[in-house]
Amino acid sequence: MATVTYDKATRIYPGSDKPAVDQLDIAIEDGEFLVLVGPSGCGKSTSLRMLAGLEDVNGGAIRIGDRDVTHLPPKDRDIAMVFQNYALYPHMTVADNMGFALKIAGVNKTEIRQKVEDAARILDLTEYLGRKPKALSGGQRQRVAMGRAIVREPQVFLMDEPLSNLDAKLRVQTRTQIAGLQRRLGITTVYVTHDQVEAMTMGDRVAVLKDGLLQQVDSPRNMYDRPANLFVAGFIGSPAMNLVEVPITDGGVKFGNSVVPVSREALTTAADKGDRTVTVGVRPEHFDLVDGAGSVGSLSKDAPAGVAVTVNVVEELGADGYVYGTAEVGGEQKDLVVRVNGRNVPAKGSVLHVVPRPGELHVFSTSTGERLSD
Ligand SMILES: Nc1ncnc2c1ncn2[C@@H]1O[C@H](COP(=O)(O)OP(=O)(O)OP(=O)(O)O)[C@@H](O)[C@H]1O
Ligand SMILES: [Mg+2]
Repeated sequence: MATVTYDKATRIYPGSDKPAVDQLDIAIEDGEFLVLVGPSGCGKSTSLRMLAGLEDVNGGAIRIGDRDVTHLPPKDRDIAMVFQNYALYPHMTVADNMGFALKIAGVNKTEIRQKVEDAARILDLTEYLGRKPKALSGGQRQRVAMGRAIVREPQVFLMDEPLSNLDAKLRVQTRTQIAGLQRRLGITTVYVTHDQVEAMTMGDRVAVLKDGLLQQVDSPRNMYDRPANLFVAGFIGSPAMNLVEVPITDGGVKFGNSVVPVSREALTTAADKGDRTVTVGVRPEHFDLVDGAGSVGSLSKDAPAGVAVTVNVVEELGADGYVYGTAEVGGEQKDLVVRVNGRNVPAKGSVLHVVPRPGELHVFSTSTGERLSD
């Protein structure tokens, strides 16, 4: 077992002047499950391949435990990788597929058999050891690919979108299995996905990348509660956080007919940058519904507090409902998503009045995108 350290690790592909991975700095703990997430092309696979030794490192260093592996060949790094296309050997049985790397390494037959059987037990594959891959389901094949990695007892597991060939239901099942298995084995794991739900449900910590740059590395809870910038705010969470530009007023921000309090530090920082607006973020579950005209906290006697949202679509999910609507905020028409009680959803075309719940407002600099509230 081991820690993994990216120390300002940079990859610039030949013929490109922009790094695909730009001074990546992450210290992964021994036994940790770290998920790299971000949109297509942000540098996730490149980061993983640098750690695997499949991609040159053009700046900085990578360490596994105390060993500097920056320029070591893949076979000397003590890692095992599971790819999206795990390509099992079709003519070999499950047992032979799982034991193949050990056979190549010259491990004796009895020991291979033992390790394969142990891994098969963990993965619930015992009864399939004699079958060929084509006689397995997608999820079972995926577990064989995991088995191949497990039998090698590496210091680090690397996984690049290992679930993307599975259908939606199997993905959900298998992600729980992988996360549980990793916790039991306690092997440090770096896992790549573009799916933020997968990232949030599987990772001890999540690292968000964009254009080769690390945006934030944090626990799923902190990532959700305190996104470091507008990009992370919009990327993590489903449905996404509502982000709207609003004017700064005395002691807060003007949100339709309400003033929502914002910390003095946040407003001062924005003002110091010369900004007259900030961008506020409100998660769909953090709007309160208010009554009609003259409601408490309204700046206008004749109009309800907050903003009026015209309901366009209602998504009913049983316990909850999501209202997709339009509202005028900060002088512009904006699409907003509001979570409502699933037993009491508004009709399409009706109007809701909503205010952000105090203390649940995220405040970002409009000019830099950085988080201003704490
Ligand atoms: N072999 C290569 N040569 C040149 N450029 C490359 C090479 N491989 C990747 N890139 C570029 O580097 C950037 C990062 O690619 P990478 O494959 O790491 O992205 P990713 O985050 O894994 O994306 P995806 O979610 O689509 O798999 C992209 O702009 C890509 O075009
Ligand atoms: Mg990739």
